[in-house]
Amino acid sequence: MPILDQFSLVGRRAVISGGSRGLGLEMARALGEASAEIIIVGSDGERLSQAAQELGAAGLQVHTVVADLSIPTEAERLCDRLLTDFPAIDILVNNVGGRRINTPTEDLPLEDWQRIIDLNLTQVFLCTKRLGGAMLQRGWGRVINIASINALWPGKAMRGRAYETSKAAVAMFTKAVAADWAAQGVTVNCIAPGPFLTDANRRWIGEKPEFEAEVAASIPMGRWGDPKEIGGLVVYLASEASSYMTGSLLVLDGGKLLW
Ligand SMILES: NC(=O)c1ccc[n+]([C@@H]2O[C@H](COP(=O)([O-])OP(=O)(O)OC[C@H]3O[C@@H](n4cnc5c(N)ncnc54)[C@H](OP(=O)(O)O)[C@@H]3O)[C@@H](O)[C@H]2O)c1
Repeated sequence: MPILDQFSLVGRRAVISGGSRGLGLEMARALGEASAEIIIVGSDGERLSQAAQELGAAGLQVHTVVADLSIPTEAERLCDRLLTDFPAIDILVNNVGGRRINTPTEDLPLEDWQRIIDLNLTQVFLCTKRLGGAMLQRGWGRVINIASINALWPGKAMRGRAYETSKAAVAMFTKAVAADWAAQGVTVNCIAPGPFLTDANRRWIGEKPEFEAEVAASIPMGRWGDPKEIGGLVVYLASEASSYMTGSLLVLDGGKLLW
């Protein structure tokens, strides 16, 4: 197959969790532009509809499903619904994650630790088990987990450490499941983004404006990532072009981890 044809997602169906904004929205757009039918998931139905309108207006085939993935039973319910309404899911992008608090470890309540672990890790397990498990039966699939450079490196300004711990677990879960499923046609890979200008980081910049320039200065490329810059990598991992890659952790960070 000619090389550019290997990136085509014609006839493929993709689920992107957290596809209403930020990196998830841009990954959904990229997969849709590569001709996949896309299903975006988020907890805020209104924001999800806005994103679907924007993607639909660009000619992409898009559906929405509302679910709060910080709650494991909701993640199970989402999988039930997807497996009923869209039985053949070829591509799963486990993108939902974050932290939203910065409490030092010595003060972090167990409930907050558990919520961050569930938001970043437990739902990745549940969606991979259910939706990736269904891919095994069809003999072809792509699971793409979104970790963070903080899976490899503790953030200097971060506190609490549930975020880094859960992202590191996502990276190892990726490798272990990739090994189990490698001979069955389903690849499992992981992207580790560095700092991107999304709502999550704009919130931190809003609280501490000097953070924006400090972070840019800490990156060899001298700037934050634009969310659109994750599109090419996710299409590669979702497509035939990456047929011999599984269990990989791909760092996308403007060189941040080099210094
Ligand atoms: N931005 C970065 O610099 C960066 C760096 C490293 C790793 N990452 C990782 O990349 C992923 C995306 O980050 P981002 O910056 O794009 O985040 P974001 O701008 O905060 O967007 C997160 C997306 O997830 C959805 N979401 C959040 N909580 C959810 C929940 N409980 N249930 C269902 N959907 C939920 C959001 O929609 P609703 O709020 O409407 O539900 C939104 O669509 C995360 O896993 C993050 O840890 C980001």
